[in-house]
Amino acid sequence: MTDQPQTDSKPKKLFIKTYGCQMNVYDSERMAEAMGAEGYVTTEVAEEADMVLLNTCHIREKAAEKVYSDLGRLRPLKAAKPDLKIGVAGCVAQAEGAEILERMPLVDLVVGPQSYHRLPAMAKAAGEGRKSVDTDFPAEDKFDHLPTRDLPKRGPTAFLTVQEGCDKFCAFCVVPYTRGAEVSRPAERILTEARALVDRGVREITLLGQNVNAYHGHDGGLGGLVRDLARIEGLARIRYTTSHPNDMDEALIAAHGEEPKLMPYLHLPVQSGSDRILKAMNRKHTAEAYLRLVEKIRAARPDILLTSDFIVGFPGETDEDFEATMDLIRAVGYGAAFSFKYSSRPGTPAAERAPVAAEVADERLQRLQALLTEQQRAAQTAMVGREVEVLIEKPGRLPGQMVGKSGHLHAVALSHPDARPGALGRVRITASNPNSLAGEWLGA
Ligand code: 5AD
Ligand code: SF4
Repeated sequence: MTDQPQTDSKPKKLFIKTYGCQMNVYDSERMAEAMGAEGYVTTEVAEEADMVLLNTCHIREKAAEKVYSDLGRLRPLKAAKPDLKIGVAGCVAQAEGAEILERMPLVDLVVGPQSYHRLPAMAKAAGEGRKSVDTDFPAEDKFDHLPTRDLPKRGPTAFLTVQEGCDKFCAFCVVPYTRGAEVSRPAERILTEARALVDRGVREITLLGQNVNAYHGHDGGLGGLVRDLARIEGLARIRYTTSHPNDMDEALIAAHGEEPKLMPYLHLPVQSGSDRILKAMNRKHTAEAYLRLVEKIRAARPDILLTSDFIVGFPGETDEDFEATMDLIRAVGYGAAFSFKYSSRPGTPAAERAPVAAEVADERLQRLQALLTEQQRAAQTAMVGREVEVLIEKPGRLPGQMVGKSGHLHAVALSHPDARPGALGRVRITASNPNSLAGEWLGA
C-alpha cells in the first residue's frame, strides 16, 4: 500500500462541445483520441471535467457569438474549480487567435484547426500555468501526428476527413481563411484509416472535406478513392460531403452509377438560382449549368436524392433574383436542404457590400423554407410502401425501437429483434412523420 492519494491515479476528464459542421465532429473525435493518449477520458458532463474544449464554428455571426456566451457561462465553473482548463479550438480560434484570450481571460489555450496535433503539449503547458495560442498552418499534416485510430469498438457509422480547406473563395465565406488552402490526404493513409474503422465495427463511412470532390490525393480523384474504398470487405456504405458543382467530374458521376456501395444521396450546394447573384457570390457557374449537371447525375443514378444549401438576402439580391432561386428549387426537387439568411463575415469580399433589409431577408427565408419543407415531405411520402435498405444505428425514443438510415439518409424507426446496431436489412416503409420514416423490418 502506498499513501499516494487516490486522485493521482484517476484519469483526467475532457468535455468537448462541438459546434458547426461534420468536419468539426470528426476533429473533436480525433482531439479526444489525442488527449486519450495523454490519459484523458471524455465526459458528457462539463461540471466534472478537468478540461473543457469548445470546438467552434465561424461560418455565420450567430455561431461565432454563441462561443462567447458559452465561455461566459463557464465562469462560475472556473471560479469553483480553479484548476479547470479551458480551450478554444476550431474556426473561431483560427479567425480570432489571441483576441480570444483578451476578451475572455478564463481561456487557457487557443488552437486552430490545423494545429490539433499540438494540443497535448498545449494542455500540458496550461497545466503548468502557461497560456498558449497556435493558429499556424504548419507544413506537416496534423493527421500524421495524431494517434492512429487503433481504438475500441465503435458505432456503425463514421466520418473520415479526406480533404481540408478551400480555394474557391465564395464572396460570403470565411472557410478559405479559417481552414486555409485545399489540402488532400494521401489515398493510402485514408484507406488504412478506413480499414481500421471497419475493424472496429464501422459499416458506413462519410468522407468529409470542405470541398470534398476537389479531392486530389488519388489519381482518379474522389471517384477513384470511392472505388478503392468500396473494395474494403465489411464496409457496406460510402457517402461524401460537401461538394462544389464545378468539381463534379465524370469519374465521380460514373461512380454514382456503377458503385453500389456509394449511396444514392448527394449534397450539392447551389446557394442561389440567380445568375447575377451567383456571379456576385463568385460561384463560377450559372443556374443553367447547375441544372444540366443535376440532369447528368440523375442520368447516372436516377434514384439519387439531392440536397443543397441556400443563402437568402445576399447583398444586392432583388425580388427577381429570389424568385429565380425559388424556380431553381422547383426545377430540381430537393429531398432536403439547409437555408440561411446571409450573415456578413469580417474579411470576406461581400462584407463590404450594402445588405438587404432584414425584414426582406426574413420574409424570403420563410418562403424558401416553406417550399423546401414541402419538397422534403414529398420526398418522404414517396417512400411509403417501398422497400429500402436500412443500416441500424441506435435505439430510438420508444422502448424496443431502433433507428437507422436509408440510402437516402432518411431516418427510419422500427422494432425487430434482429434490428441491432450495425445490422443492414430490408425494410418496408409504412409511414412518413415530419422528420423521419417508420418501417417494418423484412430481414437482413
Ligand atoms: N452567411 C450565410 N450563410 C453562409 N454559409 C457560408 N457562409 C455564409 C454566410 N456568410 C452557408 C453556405 C454554405 C454553408 C455551409 O453555410 O450556404 O454552403
Ligand atoms: Fe466556402 Fe464552400 Fe465556397 Fe469554399 S466552396 S468558399 S467552403 S461556400
